[in-house]
Amino acid sequence: MPSSIKKINHFHQALMAWLLRAVEDYMHVVYGQRKRAVFHDLPATIVEIGPGTGANMRYYSPGTRVIAVEPNPAMHPYLRKAARRYGLLLDLRNTKGEHLDLDTESTEVVVSTLVLCSVDDPGQVVSEVRRVLKPGGRFIYLEHVAAMTDTALARMQNVLHRLWLLLFDGCRLNRHTWATINTAGFRQVDMDCFMLKSTWVPVSPHIFGVAVK
Ligand SMILES: C[S@@+](CC[C@H](N)C(=O)[O-])C[C@H]1O[C@@H](n2cnc3c(N)ncnc32)[C@H](O)[C@@H]1O
Repeated sequence: MPSSIKKINHFHQALMAWLLRAVEDYMHVVYGQRKRAVFHDLPATIVEIGPGTGANMRYYSPGTRVIAVEPNPAMHPYLRKAARRYGLLLDLRNTKGEHLDLDTESTEVVVSTLVLCSVDDPGQVVSEVRRVLKPGGRFIYLEHVAAMTDTALARMQNVLHRLWLLLFDGCRLNRHTWATINTAGFRQVDMDCFMLKSTWVPVSPHIFGVAVK
């Protein structure tokens, strides 16, 4: 890769990390109640895919070992700092959710919040999540998704789609992530569909819940 492209890439990754860190407290306000409800009884070791700057770490119990699968190296210093701040044992992996370097049926809980919108292949990521989960293991997810077909919001998402993709590090506004999770072969899927009341209108439709292997 030419060095000028590398520099732009590094700058973009650093900008994304800075932006994500800047909105962390806001995310705590808008998602905190839901997150607290599912993060209160986690096992001693969890896997988190795309943890970003560590927005979820404040909800984990001190001493938890977090296997953090984060391909943007600019997020890593923030993750280390957050892990120190909340007393977590960080096991950082510079890999992608599409290919988890974890053994099959080795994990009790996998967490992913606002990640399946950005990954290259959400079906492959969810399939990997299911592979590494033990039978009865939980996949805890929170994602913004496509609006209902033929609504004004769906049309807005489709118009903004390309620009959004460029501005926000490959984030897709119009993914049918509910279908990806529902058809992945989990034994049970609990899914709460809700509209986030915020000024970020294009990302207001959300799904949140727990899928059990
Ligand atoms: C919008 S951020 C969400 C960060 C965090 N989960 C949160 O809730 O604040 C999306 C994150 O997914 C990461 N990501 C993008 N593609 C990925 C992939 N293929 N596998 C794992 N993580 C990925 C990005 O680097 C970024 O940290």
